Amino acid sequence: MKKVFVKSYGCQMNVYDAERMADVLAPQGYVETADAEDADLVILNTCHIREKAAEKVFSELGRVRKLKDERAADGRETTVVVAGCVAQAEGGEIVRRAPVVDLVVGPQSYHRLPELLAKARETRGVVDTEFPVEDKFDHLPRPSRDKIRSRGVSAFLTVQEGCDKFCTFCVVPYTRGAEVSRPAAKILSEAEELAAAGVRELTVIGQNVNAYHGEGPDGRDWSLGRLLRRLAEVPGVARIRYTTSHPRDMDEELVAAHRDLGALMPYLHLPVQSGSDRILAAMNRRHSGDDYRRIIERVRAARPDIALSSDFIVGFPGESDADFAETMRLVREMRFASAFSFKYSARPGTPAAEMDGQVPEEVKAARLAELQQQLEVDRQAFNRAMVGRTVEVLFERAGRHAGQMVGKSPYLQAVHVEADDIAIGDLAPVEIVEAAPNSLHGRKKGHEGAAAPNAGRASAA
Ligand code: 5AD
Ligand code: SF4
Repeated sequence: MKKVFVKSYGCQMNVYDAERMADVLAPQGYVETADAEDADLVILNTCHIREKAAEKVFSELGRVRKLKDERAADGRETTVVVAGCVAQAEGGEIVRRAPVVDLVVGPQSYHRLPELLAKARETRGVVDTEFPVEDKFDHLPRPSRDKIRSRGVSAFLTVQEGCDKFCTFCVVPYTRGAEVSRPAAKILSEAEELAAAGVRELTVIGQNVNAYHGEGPDGRDWSLGRLLRRLAEVPGVARIRYTTSHPRDMDEELVAAHRDLGALMPYLHLPVQSGSDRILAAMNRRHSGDDYRRIIERVRAARPDIALSSDFIVGFPGESDADFAETMRLVREMRFASAFSFKYSARPGTPAAEMDGQVPEEVKAARLAELQQQLEVDRQAFNRAMVGRTVEVLFERAGRHAGQMVGKSPYLQAVHVEADDIAIGDLAPVEIVEAAPNSLHGRKKGHEGAAAPNAGRASAA
């Protein structure tokens, strides 16, 4: 029995890809291990989105080299693979810079892992960063029911890859290539298999997921809204989410899906990046701050209980204090439930990296701190406002102490509940009794006697 250790960086698509790589290797006799020292095959599934993420790979490879040497001293061989977006962007350069690497494989060719590994056994430093004509999904084996079950009740499902938007800061159109949508029938059959194995929540993913326009079973192009409607009918699927989206692709069918589908969670991650029209134009976002406000109004009209999340970049080239103030104004208006925010990182090969007016590091840091402080205030306010509300919780795992279960609210908050009659995969109404900084405590409805540990204190407050 050979063991494979996969470490993923970056986005949810990498988490999905890492699982599929393990699926490709399972018929080759590989079982997954969480312990790199134990692994005959180490795969780093990398992210290229910001410089820090990309550089992490090389420090990790330093550690992997030591490990490989130690194992070699014991007579054990270790094969090292770099996959993901750094693999795609840097290709052969990785093998030159890090001789420990046996194989470099891009995000569109990992279905070829078995043959590539065979090749790498003969000559070290094999590189495959092609965008092959064949669809990798047609060549990926389906995981067994037990495997699916072991991965939990919430699963990712890739429906779309790549991006044609070319925001001027972003490497995605280069590392993941042009937008490609999978045919709806294939997505539906994957969803059915996941649900049949016990998955209750599907997160439909794509680099630009709401630009989805795959072939429907009727031969016509289906939008994401249409696809979600059909996914909501898959027996066993109780919850649907999708990520990550572009404001320009929030079409009527998708907004209507938020109005009509109970299974579609009232939570929307819609990156805005900046509140300044000047910066949005320089980013090639092709929408204004007010366009974003109008989109959110439409979504809120369709689904009044929707919570919002977003991504922000501060210190984009040319961003002035006044531009940044526009971002802060938008944030204060929107009251995001959650958000990710980053300092602009110049990425080789992207237009923004060549722009005048690069912002000094200390200015970026100060703006990021100010923005994050506001976002944190809003996040805490959102969490506190949950107290007293009753929401459906999907239970995902046992808690730290006996009788405690942990699940997710519709808004992706972790909810801790004391109850001994809840199983993993159950959905139950829970009254939220306390909001801690990073989780909520609740009481299962119909369970009023069994209070959460701090329930008394919270209700007295
Ligand atoms: N610098 C900083 N942040 C970036 N992102 C994408 N490219 C860059 C970059 N060059 C952020 C965006 C995007 C998220 C996934 O990462 O906010 O939405
Ligand atoms: Fe990158 Fe998203 Fe813009 Fe595409 S839409 S270029 S993935 S930030």
